[in-house]
This record gives sequence, structure tokens and C-alpha cells, in this order.
Amino acid sequence: HTSNMTSKDVLIGVIGGTGLYHLDNLTLIETVNPETPWGYPSSPIAICSLKSGTKVAFVARHGRHHNISPSVVPSRANIAALKSLGVRAILAFSSVGSLREEIVPGHFAIPTQIIDRTKGIRPASFFEGTAVVAHATFGEPFSLKLVRWLEVEVGKALKAHGNGVVLHKDKCIICMEGPQFSTRAESMMYRSWGGDLINMSVLPEAKLAREAEISYALIATATDYDSWRPHSEVVTATQVVQTLRANADTAKFVAASILEDLHVAALQGDILSEETGSMKYSIMPRH
Ligand code: ADE
Repeated sequence: HTSNMTSKDVLIGVIGGTGLYHLDNLTLIETVNPETPWGYPSSPIAICSLKSGTKVAFVARHGRHHNISPSVVPSRANIAALKSLGVRAILAFSSVGSLREEIVPGHFAIPTQIIDRTKGIRPASFFEGTAVVAHATFGEPFSLKLVRWLEVEVGKALKAHGNGVVLHKDKCIICMEGPQFSTRAESMMYRSWGGDLINMSVLPEAKLAREAEISYALIATATDYDSWRPHSEVVTATQVVQTLRANADTAKFVAASILEDLHVAALQGDILSEETGSMKYSIMPRH
């Protein structure tokens, strides 16, 4: 249920992470709070219009006042609510730790792979508790067409922003459970596994977007070096918060720069083509 029909043509959903609780340069049209079979989303969803009148939907992953911990984010409700508005592509933002020297706090990254350390802990499927057995394809956990489009457009936006923020590509993100940060030993283990970034939020979000046939990509904003560097301090929440504000300002600039073109790209359909209809062969036949 949405409050009225004006919400129907929202193609792009934005999920804001820690530090990103609203977007700039947008006109708020209405706020909707759809109740889904999985409850209410993390925050009421702001339907905003860009200069051209194009609409986007924004949801704050941790609530508008950062009151929802990563372990209990109602991801199924968030994805279902965005889907109910007609959203077909999600641009998600998340603060992450860096597991690589060259990914300096303040840099951005668009990952293409995930290692799941939340498996079995968080509800991660719309089919859980139903009589349907479904195995979504997840070898490429992000929408690669959307990712490749973003690499170009976010890169341009960061260059235009002019504060030297580097964009890293083809990175692997570890999604850990939390709420505590990793130990030094875990942090080093994740590096040995090939992890480049670490957060607590990309899953189950990316899995649920795939089940909902929504194209999904993550813009990861590095806040810290986690705890692997031998002669450095381990990560603290204070350290994360210090980098957050600058990252959020950059993220807002990036969003304002690319959303119009992203809507057009989604309308033309190419960046959606891998996900649309992808669940068709994922449901196991019953005997
Ligand atoms: N989010 C931001 N920094 C993080 C870190 N070091 N580990 C897990 N999640 C994070």
C-alpha cells in the first residue's frame, strides 16, 4: 500500500548508510511508510523529485536518527517497500573499513564481490518460512551493468567535486555481523581471504534485492583502516565518525550529480537487463 498513485513511477531507490540520512538538492514530494509482510521499513521513505521532476525514493538504513543496529535492519521490509513503489535499481551507500593500504579513509569504492560472515544469523530470503524453495543466482552479487555504469559516472562526479577522492573498482567486501568491530587476527584473516573492504550492512540487502529482481550496487565510503595494520591503532567508533561527515558530503554531491542520468539509464532498460526476470529459473520444481 502506498499513499497515492504519484509514487508509482519511482525507478531508482537510494539507501543511505551511516552518516547519510537524507539527500541534498531534492524536493520532498511525500513521505510514505508502506507496511510490508515483513513489517515497516527502517525509516519512512522520502519520495523526492530531481530538477526535471524525476522521482527517487530514499530510505535511511539505520533509521533517520541512527537507532537501528546493522544486525536488526529490517532489510526485507526495506527492499519490499522499495519494490512496492516500482523501484527497479537501488543505489546503496555504506561506510566501510579498508583492508588495503591504498584504500585510504575518505576514498570511495564500488565492490563487485562479497564474502558473507552473517550467514545463518540474519533472515536473508523472502522465501524463508514459505513452501517455495528458491535458489537465486548470486555468483555476481551486484548488478554488473549498474556497477560498470556507476564506475564511469561516479568517477566523473568525484573528479568534478575536486577534493581528490579516489574511486576503487572491482573490490571484495566482507560483510561481518558486529556490533563489535573485528579483532586484529580476524582483520588479517579477511585480508588473506582477499577482502578489500569490510562493513556490516551489504547483506542481506544485496541478496534480497536479487530475489526481488532489483538491480543493486554499493557505493562504499571508507572511514577507517579496520584493525589489521600492525603499528596502528585499531578501529574505534570515534574514528569512524570523524571521517563520516566529509564522506557524507561527497556522497550527497555524487548522488546529486548522477541520479538524473541513472534514471534515464534505467528507463532505457540496459542496466536492468541482468536482473529482470532472473528469478524465473530459481524456483525449484515440485514433484
Ligand atoms: N563500518 C565502518 N568501518 C567498519 C569496520 N572497520 N568494520 C566493520 N564495519 C565498518
